[in-house]
Amino acid sequence: MNAQAAPQVLIPRNEIDAEVRTLAARITADYRDTNPLLIGALKGCFMFMADLVRCLEFPLEIEFVRLSSYGDGTESSGKVNLVQGLNVPVEGRHVLVVEDIVDTGLTVAFLLEYLKEQRPASLKCCTLLDKPARRQCEVCVDYIGLEVPDRFLVGYGLDCDERYRNLPDICYLEK
Ligand code: PRP
Repeated sequence: MNAQAAPQVLIPRNEIDAEVRTLAARITADYRDTNPLLIGALKGCFMFMADLVRCLEFPLEIEFVRLSSYGDGTESSGKVNLVQGLNVPVEGRHVLVVEDIVDTGLTVAFLLEYLKEQRPASLKCCTLLDKPARRQCEVCVDYIGLEVPDRFLVGYGLDCDERYRNLPDICYLEK
């Protein structure tokens, strides 16, 4: 029996869709002729990545890495683990990292450093959600969708102990 309260909607699906289209328009303007390599950070990015790339109507390639810092709890461990790295060359490519959320910033900082070492032609980052209240390190995020409050978010790819990733809206859990 799980006594946790039901997730409450914070950002409904239609608002997510509108923001994804706005981000896609900006990315299209910047990357249309560059055959970029979009690199998603699994697992959380899977739904955003799927919706974003369907709005990008130009040649591009998609890869994923798998990173984890939250384990099965609700607080970041502060240590990012590279669970699955890349096995395609990045050197000379225009790389755009796709994240669902930048929270402490540790995950995206780690990923950008990991990719920078592989000498891409350019390296930028896009996140659907930004939670600046929790930042622990300085990170440069080039495309930011929606700023969110310091609440525990689930849905649209985000989880709590692996639950709720399938919710179509971005929701929060009461403490
Ligand atoms: C979540 C989320 C981001 C990261 C952001 O991933 O998907 O990648 O945390 O948090 P940060 O800015 O504090 O580092 P998580 O480590 O929970 O793994 P998951 O993507 O498999 O859910």
